[in-house]
Amino acid sequence: MLKEAAAGESRVSATPETVKKFIALGAEMAVEQGAGEGASIADADYAAAGAKLGSRADALKDADIILGVQGPEPESIGGAKPGAWLVAGLNPFGERARVDAYAAKGVEALAMEFMPRITRAQSMDILSSQSNLAGYKAVLLAAAEYGRAFPMMMTAAGTVSAARAFIMGVGVAGLQAIATARRLGAQVSATDVRSATKEQIQSLGAKPIFVEAVAGIEGEGAGGYATEMSEEYQKAQAELVSSHIAKQDIVITTALIPGRPAPRLISDAQIATMRSGSVIVDLAAESGGNVEGAVSGETVVRHGVKIIGAKNMAGTLAADASALFSRNLYNFLSAFWDKEAGGPVLDEEIGNAVRLTQGGKVVHERLLG
Ligand code: NAI
Repeated sequence: MLKEAAAGESRVSATPETVKKFIALGAEMAVEQGAGEGASIADADYAAAGAKLGSRADALKDADIILGVQGPEPESIGGAKPGAWLVAGLNPFGERARVDAYAAKGVEALAMEFMPRITRAQSMDILSSQSNLAGYKAVLLAAAEYGRAFPMMMTAAGTVSAARAFIMGVGVAGLQAIATARRLGAQVSATDVRSATKEQIQSLGAKPIFVEAVAGIEGEGAGGYATEMSEEYQKAQAELVSSHIAKQDIVITTALIPGRPAPRLISDAQIATMRSGSVIVDLAAESGGNVEGAVSGETVVRHGVKIIGAKNMAGTLAADASALFSRNLYNFLSAFWDKEAGGPVLDEEIGNAVRLTQGGKVVHERLLG
């Protein structure tokens, strides 16, 4: 298991719990020294779980499987064996040059964000486990930056009115954002392009805000993900959002379309209609942003509205995020563990979905042609 090298990455891809479980399967575990620091896990904890600690070169030398949270710089895994698996969140579209370099090194790169959205793979899904935490943390950040309270309070000095929170994009992160904002006492509304989310919004006690009577409202494409919407739909959505957003104090945007830039949901002109002191958290800021003017990793103020460009939100909850991420990797590899082979043997459905490189070549259909 690698120590993460990316700036600001505090998560880790194996915990003492998963180290023990891998050893129970018959694996030997090597951990790069200091890997768990950011997630509050000491080298001694890994050693107590049975891992061998050493330098990156030591950890890589005999590894058949290399675990990471993010993809490592290709030069930093020069010591990997040809044919070794690299199992991590590899950001295949954003880091395409790295994928080519992994192929050139003969490493078999498996991108965990390409895990198919099928029932048996739910426990292996890093996007879900990390988005859930991101949705929660986005609301906490908004609450911390907001100069008013979330719940309604009746005090001797007068009444504080409840904050109005609007969640745009109701996937895993959005659902958790709705639940968290509700727990804090906000009045919550939410929208999505997938009509299936309407009931989910209602069941969490929030108000659905939906474009009605425009072709394409289903909005659901392959694998349960959103598709890009028609121009007519986008126009109707913009009008609806304009009238609603002017009355909101908190907006959390989470909308993503796999393999494409994030859809633009809020314009600068719409921000100008919001009350001064309102807060927007753009969870899609790293993928191009749902909000005009949002900058990943920074907070900018436009028309008196704070716009927080989220960056690696799950990483700010490193201990929990690492525990869940590590279990995702363990659930994946152990599900395919073959005692005779002494390691995992993937089936076609999941193998073809996640495998980016093999035999020195890029093999994934979404990266070819
Ligand atoms: P995501 O992170 O790709 O996108 C977030 C949300 O933004 C989605 O709900 C999407 O519909 C919405 N969105 C996209 N464009 C939009 C627009 N223009 N306006 C408003 N909203 C927009 O999605 P996520 O969180 O990964 O989940 C997608 C679906 O997959 C959900 O139904 C989820 O329950 C399902 N899922 C299934 C799993 C499984 O069966 N293994 C695992 C995880 C999720």
